[in-house]
Amino acid sequence: MKRLGVNIDHIATLRNARGELHPDPVFAANFAKKIGADSITIHLREDRRHIRDKDAKLICSKRNILVNLEISTNLRMIKTALKMKPNFICIVPENRKEITTEGGLDLKKNRFRIKKIISMFKEKKIRTSLFINPSIKDIKISKELDVDCIEIHTGTLSNLVKLNKSFKNEIKKIERCSLLANKLGLEVHAGHGLDYKTTKLLSKIREIKEFNIGHFIIGESIFIGLAQVIKNFKRIIGK
Ligand code: PXP
Repeated sequence: MKRLGVNIDHIATLRNARGELHPDPVFAANFAKKIGADSITIHLREDRRHIRDKDAKLICSKRNILVNLEISTNLRMIKTALKMKPNFICIVPENRKEITTEGGLDLKKNRFRIKKIISMFKEKKIRTSLFINPSIKDIKISKELDVDCIEIHTGTLSNLVKLNKSFKNEIKKIERCSLLANKLGLEVHAGHGLDYKTTKLLSKIREIKEFNIGHFIIGESIFIGLAQVIKNFKRIIGK
């Protein structure tokens, strides 16, 4: 069975826009879990633009929710994450000026730093994944770094689909990477910019075990409600 990770960062974006308490990401985490989310993803960014420390701490403390905490390779962030003890960690690149995570990690440049970080989380028995571009080279490096999972950045595919451009080659690239990663014993996840259409396309790739989806889920909830959107995605990935 493929799993759905619901990223609730933008519940916090909305709350922060008013500087008040509503909508509450902790409530959203419980709600999404109740509706059928397999895990909750939160990205504690260095600039704390959406999820904040208090949210992350509270959400990570929920025993009934599997929490996937996304963090950068910044040492302060690693220390914070180790204290919060999430179930899962996803290491992502971070650039303060970007609107969202624009690409995968530069594994070649940061391999020693990332290897050390992975070993710190492994020691605490926290499942760790690397957010990478769909690149065979990066899959091979991920294996060398001894990580548990890789999450393939699907932003290029999503943009091609949204712009009505040919996406066959990008899908093939993702499929080849997923096959190799699976063969090497790395669990395969996918995320970034996914909507119903792209998730349906990627669901055909057997090796992808988990989808982490945020912006579209929260945006679509405005029209049909969070519960219905989660149910729709569960149906799409369950087929
Ligand atoms: N996966 C990872 C590792 C991410 O960094 C993000 C976005 O921050 C997502 C998934 C979700 O992307 P989106 O909000 O575009 O669905």
